[in-house]
Amino acid sequence: MKRFIPHCMKIMLMVLFIFLLIACEKAEPTESESSPEPSLELEEEGAESGPIHIGFSMDTLEEERWLKDRELFKKEVEELGAKIDIMVANEDVAKQIAQVETLIHNGVDVLVIVPYNTEPAAAIVEKAHLAGIKVISYDRLIKNANVDLYVSFDNEMVGELQAKAITSLVPTGKYVYIGGAITDNNANLIKKGVFKVLQPYIQNGDITVVYDQWTEDWNPDNAYKNMLAALEANHNEIDAVIAANDSTAEGAIRALREKGLAGKIPVAGQDADLTAVQRIVQGEQAMTVYKPISSLAKETADLALKLADGETIKTNRKINNGKIEVPSILLSPIEVNKDNIDDTIIADGFHSREDVYGE
Ligand code: BGC
Repeated sequence: MKRFIPHCMKIMLMVLFIFLLIACEKAEPTESESSPEPSLELEEEGAESGPIHIGFSMDTLEEERWLKDRELFKKEVEELGAKIDIMVANEDVAKQIAQVETLIHNGVDVLVIVPYNTEPAAAIVEKAHLAGIKVISYDRLIKNANVDLYVSFDNEMVGELQAKAITSLVPTGKYVYIGGAITDNNANLIKKGVFKVLQPYIQNGDITVVYDQWTEDWNPDNAYKNMLAALEANHNEIDAVIAANDSTAEGAIRALREKGLAGKIPVAGQDADLTAVQRIVQGEQAMTVYKPISSLAKETADLALKLADGETIKTNRKINNGKIEVPSILLSPIEVNKDNIDDTIIADGFHSREDVYGE
């Protein structure tokens, strides 16, 4: 008996111990759930609606700038606590529509679109609206659709800056215009800006535009072929070239180089691609137009979240897209030539001094 009691007590003590252990384990999560109260509240809200979800449908990553857009826009959206799905259509209308359908299916709250082709992209807006999703046209305007917001740079001003820079270098002579993709509204706006500046020179006979072509898909090889055709048709007697962006400028300069003319004829571009800025330093390209992508990405991310929250966005511009006056925000592009590379793109950290000058 003497031995039985302690043994019995041992068993009871063990049972008590196990009971206490289980009780403690059960109590722990309750304590940790309730202690950091704000995070519990967030989780509970999240369980209901989840973080805001942005869909970013891009046309291409071919030009250097789009890599920056992808990275910077993602960073901005995530810093605001939202999540993002990015899809790239690789210059394919049907693919872009299919990808947007996937984003809609995935439950995005707002769609941000860089349309490959400005007209058929209208179908995307309709699909999104049917699902109750607002659409932002990013950098490129979607035509003939009820776009909720358009955020871009002033593309007409891009063309004006190019033409002003080149006419101040070459006020008389034979000009070649290497346009962008006709399917991109920006290419049309840039051309409008260029010809607005050239018009008085053309009218008084100082400038003749001897060649004027679009470049399919903004492809440098197509621009190269266009430039060769322009040179051949004019027995290499060309005085200035305005190309709609740095990729088309690259193609044009390749053709000039083959004829021993690179650096002798001023060429304008756009985007401040690293290779273009290097060509400016080396004297093969006269100028480019710098568009601070970080501002575009930040502005769009802020506005996308506001739209998702149902806020009304006030803008100071409206742009007609053939169907409606689209509330728009247009940021200012900046001319870059060899004299202000340091104060613009290097000062902004768009490219490093080492990359630009190789030192
Ligand atoms: C953009 C340019 C870009 C071009 C080709 C245009 O819509 O505004 O920055 O170089 O597309 O991708």
